Amino acid sequence: MTKILTIVGARPQFIKAAAVSRAIQERSGLQEVLVHTGQHFDAGMSRVFFEQMQIPGPKYQLNIHSLPHGAMTGRMLEALEEVLQAEQPDWMMVYGDTNSTLAGALAASKMHIPVAHVEAGLRSFNMQMPEEVNRIMTDRLSRLLFCPTEKAINNLEAEGFRNFHCRIVRTGDVMYDAALFFRNRAIKPDYENIPDHFVLLTIHREENTRDPHLFADMIRAINLLAEKTDVLFPMHPRTRKLVKDAHLPAFSQKVHVIDPVSYLEMLWLLERTDVVITDSGGMQKEACFFEKPCITLRGETEWVELVDAGYNRLCGRDSTCLLEAYDHFTNNPPNFTGGLYGKGNASAIIAEALSEDIRK
Ligand code: UD1
Repeated sequence: MTKILTIVGARPQFIKAAAVSRAIQERSGLQEVLVHTGQHFDAGMSRVFFEQMQIPGPKYQLNIHSLPHGAMTGRMLEALEEVLQAEQPDWMMVYGDTNSTLAGALAASKMHIPVAHVEAGLRSFNMQMPEEVNRIMTDRLSRLLFCPTEKAINNLEAEGFRNFHCRIVRTGDVMYDAALFFRNRAIKPDYENIPDHFVLLTIHREENTRDPHLFADMIRAINLLAEKTDVLFPMHPRTRKLVKDAHLPAFSQKVHVIDPVSYLEMLWLLERTDVVITDSGGMQKEACFFEKPCITLRGETEWVELVDAGYNRLCGRDSTCLLEAYDHFTNNPPNFTGGLYGKGNASAIIAEALSEDIRK
């Protein structure tokens, strides 16, 4: 029996784990132990995902959250070392680019436990982003690198990964697997005033929520957009804190600010929105899964194939770009051809690779 210790901690990781854990359960010879670091802890950011997507309950809950990056990652590292001592797994599996990802990869590699990284090879080439630091370090520590896209493989090759003791596997995107599986279980969010036509907005990146002056500019830009359309804005706790603490301009009446929604509710909104506006990595892809154009509130993206295909425009915090991109997509909706993120079997490919023992 091959034992896999999986680390999750932040919202997008619960969605990815829902797809991969199911594939692991379906494959004989694999056993999974789940550890929740606690990075995301509000019921609406964590528990609801486990319940709705029937993710196996974590055996370990570390409850580490709301700390600066160093303290958060350091405490996770310390706690994970103990878990690894107790469990002695054959693999450590980590997802994406969060502080939980890096802590898991570091703890395991110090104990000579091989690391498998889901969503390997992505780069924004912006080292100011904590996520970029986390993913570069995690990739370098990993033995199995599960790449969602061709571009991710190219990135690793350019960094010399073919010379390292690791295996690079093109899998497709596990979030695509999740969207296909859960799509017809979508649930309407518990909010009465959902307009017939709306733009779906999310903002949570540190670079967009660190500075109240910059965020005030973003509010002004969103209010300008709201002169053209209703905007539905499920607000991440980080952004909520900023809005509460700083003296910021009010949102216009056509901006509907609601609590974070569950994954199944998000799928319902994705199905119905006209355009997605976001600084999230996952939402950029989900917009494409649902054939919705996306405007990204960042200067760069890890998902460059979306921009190349004309499905996504990078606007950073430029309000003129935002309004122009909205007009562009409304007048010329892109023609989605599909196929960028695999065939919906990424999780099965991952489970198969984990059951082959490459350490011999
Ligand atoms: C983290 C990840 C990011 C990922 C995102 C998904 C890192 C460096 N960043 O960013 O890659 O895209 O998750 O959402 O790991 N908070 C709550 N309740 C919660 C969760 C967070 O109040 O359930 C608060 C925290 O206390 C903190 C703030 O929100 O003050 C930000 O949380 P944090 O985990 O630092 O980063 P995210 O912005 O969520």
